[in-house]
Amino acid sequence: MIILGLETSCDETSAAVVVDGRHVLSNIIHSQLIHRRFGGVVPELAGREHIRRIVPIMDEALGAAGKTLADIDGFAATFGPGLVGALLVGLSFAKALAYGTGRPFYAVNHLEGHIAANLLAHEELGDELLTLLVSGGHTMLIGVKGFGNYTVMGRSLDDASGEAFDKVAKLLGLGYPGGAAIDHLAKSGNPAYIRFPRALPDPARIDFSFSGLKTAVALYVKNHPPDEIQNHLADIAASFQEAAVDALCDKTVIALRRTGLAVLALSGGVAANSRLRAKLQAACDHLGVRLIYPPSELCTDNAAMIAAAGAIHLLRGEQSPFDINAIPYQKLI
Ligand code: KG4
Ligand code: ZN
Repeated sequence: MIILGLETSCDETSAAVVVDGRHVLSNIIHSQLIHRRFGGVVPELAGREHIRRIVPIMDEALGAAGKTLADIDGFAATFGPGLVGALLVGLSFAKALAYGTGRPFYAVNHLEGHIAANLLAHEELGDELLTLLVSGGHTMLIGVKGFGNYTVMGRSLDDASGEAFDKVAKLLGLGYPGGAAIDHLAKSGNPAYIRFPRALPDPARIDFSFSGLKTAVALYVKNHPPDEIQNHLADIAASFQEAAVDALCDKTVIALRRTGLAVLALSGGVAANSRLRAKLQAACDHLGVRLIYPPSELCTDNAAMIAAAGAIHLLRGEQSPFDINAIPYQKLI
């Protein structure tokens, strides 16, 4: 089954052609640069950019896959969570394509899309696993018992982990979005330079909190002379990253111990973080757990993961009605 997937939930316009929810023929991702000068995503501009880009991006995805619309067996697009004006573009476009071609359509939950990204990267996942979903909008630990059967074990009580990376990057003058820039800069810094707080140390709690960490970095920057901050940018980035990664690792290890699950899957933009991957790899080696994550281009927002999730539902005979709407605050379950 050849699926055309569309992803327009935030500031990436993406189209992908995926076979049987497993094999990526093409995955074209256009990251909107227009938001950089504002230091964050401007929802109205995101929607307008999606409208401008969606047709050429789809054409590029079809061309790169060597397919035409006539070859597509079904369509999938994100319906939520995300920015409503942005979601509506991909969702309406996919519905129109399905209606026009008479092929089935499935509206995909963006969070389930991130979970499905690992299906594209690994042949065998096993029936049960723990997913750490870490993105710009979400931070969650999810027990997965077969695709579609989820238990949310923990989540962020305030900022998402990616949001904390982005806000700290902005404070340090690293631009937006800044997660990858912090990751890069931290490689040359001392992670023990400052001991930033690790929130919710109680091992009985699996939830996360990142707003206090972000505030601690903001206060540190405010209370030190600018030249001292400039001279120690890499140390501050590494110290922040260490605190964020420690919090993610500690709670993930508690969840692994509590559930006894043997596979840990990372997904979402922050899953591209090299320190997070290294620390979790060491923890998983110690516990005898298999750690998997997608390549970086499948961690951040992309349409291949949406096509993969859509394919599983369509292959099960499930379809979405054409009157399904975009839902900005859609939950996973
Ligand atoms: O999954 P994603 O593309 O969008 C959402 O669904 O939110 O995640 C984007 C987030 C941004 O906050 C970005 O700064 C972060 O992922 N990110 C990283 C890295 N690469 C992307 N954070 C830390 N380290 C990275 N290498
Ligand atoms: Zn995402």
